[in-house]
Amino acid sequence: MGELKYEPLFETKKAKGRIIYRLFATSLFCGILLIWIYRLCNIPKPGENGRYGWIGMLGAELWFGFYWFLTQSLRWNRVYRQAFRDRLLQRYENELPRVDAFVCTADPAIEPPIMVINTVLSVMAYNYPQEKLSVYLSDDAGSELTFYAFLEASRFAKHWLPYCKKFNVEPRSPAAYFASLSVSDQSDAEFSEIKRLYEDMANKIDAACKAGRVSDQAKLEYKGFSKWSSYSSKKNHAAILQILIDSRDEGAKDIDGVKLPTLVYVAREKRPQHFHNFKAGAMNALIRVSSEISNGPVILNVDCDMYSNNSYSIQDALCFFMDEEKSHEIAFVQFPQSFENTTKNEIYGSLRVIDKVEFHGADGYGGPLYTGTGCFHRRDTLYGREFSKEARIDLKSSCPEKREENTHELEERLERLASSTYEQNTQWGNEIGLKYGCPVEDVLTGLTIKCKGWKSVFYRPKREAFLGVTATTLDQILVQHKRWSEGDLNILFSKYSPVWYGLGKLNPGLVLGYLNYCFWSPNCFATLYYSIVPSLYLLRGISLFPQVSSKWFLPFAYVIIAELTYSFAEFLWSGGTVLGWWNEQRIWLYKRTSSYIFAVLDTMLKLFGSSNTTFIVTPKVTDEDVLLRYKQEAMEFGSASPMLTILSTLAMLNLFCLMGLVKKLILTRELGFKYVFETMALQILLCGVLVFVNLPLYNALFFRKDKGKIPSSTAVQSVVFSLSVCTCIAYL
Ligand SMILES: *[C@@H]1O[C@H](CO)[C@@H](O)[C@H](O)[C@H]1NC(C)=O
Ligand SMILES: *[C@@H]1O[C@H](CO)[C@@H](O)[C@H](O)[C@H]1NC(C)=O
Repeated sequence: MGELKYEPLFETKKAKGRIIYRLFATSLFCGILLIWIYRLCNIPKPGENGRYGWIGMLGAELWFGFYWFLTQSLRWNRVYRQAFRDRLLQRYENELPRVDAFVCTADPAIEPPIMVINTVLSVMAYNYPQEKLSVYLSDDAGSELTFYAFLEASRFAKHWLPYCKKFNVEPRSPAAYFASLSVSDQSDAEFSEIKRLYEDMANKIDAACKAGRVSDQAKLEYKGFSKWSSYSSKKNHAAILQILIDSRDEGAKDIDGVKLPTLVYVAREKRPQHFHNFKAGAMNALIRVSSEISNGPVILNVDCDMYSNNSYSIQDALCFFMDEEKSHEIAFVQFPQSFENTTKNEIYGSLRVIDKVEFHGADGYGGPLYTGTGCFHRRDTLYGREFSKEARIDLKSSCPEKREENTHELEERLERLASSTYEQNTQWGNEIGLKYGCPVEDVLTGLTIKCKGWKSVFYRPKREAFLGVTATTLDQILVQHKRWSEGDLNILFSKYSPVWYGLGKLNPGLVLGYLNYCFWSPNCFATLYYSIVPSLYLLRGISLFPQVSSKWFLPFAYVIIAELTYSFAEFLWSGGTVLGWWNEQRIWLYKRTSSYIFAVLDTMLKLFGSSNTTFIVTPKVTDEDVLLRYKQEAMEFGSASPMLTILSTLAMLNLFCLMGLVKKLILTRELGFKYVFETMALQILLCGVLVFVNLPLYNALFFRKDKGKIPSSTAVQSVVFSLSVCTCIAYL
């Protein structure tokens, strides 16, 4: 027999059509340069109409051009990955590493326990040697209800796991699995039995949640509930740690006699006088606790609302960690954040382009961001280990061996690791573990890992690996984006800024890639300017763009048409719909003129020493009314908020400007058609597009009767305010 040929466990392919894309981008850049030159060379003289407006336009266009340049770093060098899990199994079937999965939940009222355990069950049921898998649930509310559900899940798992393996079930979240079947699929006895077991469990959990407490009967049956005797509130309780299943125990077997995954419940200690650092704090407690129980060299982190939709994901991820030649520098493998419940045309936008395009671009320069869920890490890198070519980490693991200590002693010992004072005077949250003090602790942590010399990988299998629940109201999505954009802006100003900390350590392309996200929120200034000032000048009849017959009109036309066409094509290519693209434009505008403004304001306040990070968990439950409107793709404006006031004021302002123009053209005939279109075509286009984009908002202001309409107080404020501004501008 000849030499065995080395077959890689994964391959990396460059995106097709890169040359064409680069030529196109270069031509667009020339267009942008011409626009800048035009603006610079044609500034109105002091005293002439529109001088200040013009200078502002120059500023806005400089910004847009600069930001466009940043976005190129995420498109210039895209790569796509492919994993070969068959080869992994051939080579390492008996030496696969132990894997610890962390599921984080924060509040049973917002994240229903039944959803949490569906995620847990889907993770337990991975197609992976069960005794090498451990699942940890971090329950930051320390809720008895969540624990009860978890306990029930540990019992149900004994039936569910063998069932999944026997029938090769996909997806392995029971709720998603049962929902995916049609009536005709449901015949045989084993199916009826498993479904009945699931429904029994779900009913019990549901009853407990409705009652708001666990029944005394259930508490008597399981002595673990005694740990809640000293519990006072979700913000004030001792650490509670319970090992529900320990793979090392002889008895930890499913109904087929196969060892079960280890299953651990952790509620770290919470005290009002100790700051708990949100999810990063919870993750760090899990890192410590798990190191004493299973100590898997690979850690999977998922949010409690993201169930596994693909039982092969662990094997896929390991291909990137276990290749003999190319894996040593890879610290984490990030899967896309996909959502189960999006409607066809995604009225609240999506992460589509980020997932299908941008992260592949970042991957070409050293790896995507860590986004806090659906991510596999090497444990050592989370401890702050530097990359070194010489000291390679061996992940191969044997099965866990029997433990000397009894479970009760172990639990007590480990509860100390989850105490609220454990981290005092240590490097946890700083040099070790996930970083503290940033609303997007995940992005920051991923960034510092890469600054230590590591790479990351973005992997999007054909069948999505994880599916989560998406926001179903405008308010939720705006708040979420405020947190993200604010967090990313904080990173820019922090000690770990990609600019001063990352420079020299990261590929320059990746520094620019990070800046895309860090500069999300400062986009609000240029966007606000562009959506207010040209319209007001239109109302006054002052032109801010070149005439249609001027040769300078061409670069504007080219940049507008080329960029819109490109973004449209990119969106469709990513699997979106035509209307979806249009909706995306609206959300783009709304984020930039509300979430981002508040993100910038709060960051300023923080820099000058006031205000603290607040972490708002977006609710995962919505009432039926709201859900119905979501399914019908009617935007849910709902409650009054400063963000909504800004959005509707801007919309009204543009509407009034357009109406003012029409009045001058048709009623009073102050201006001639020909003159107006010759000098102000682009301004009319801009204002018209803004009005057109806002059609659903006008509908919600004036015509809708349901609860999702814009509250009348907001409506009155925005009309009064925008009308007064327009009147002043038109007549003063
Ligand atoms: C989730 O998995 C199921 C099969 O288990 C598959 O039919 C479905 O397409 C997957 N969803 C996505 C979004 O990939
Ligand atoms: C999301 O999916 C679940 C189950 O598939 C369904 O019950 C729920 O109504 C869906 N929610 C939305 C907002 O579509």
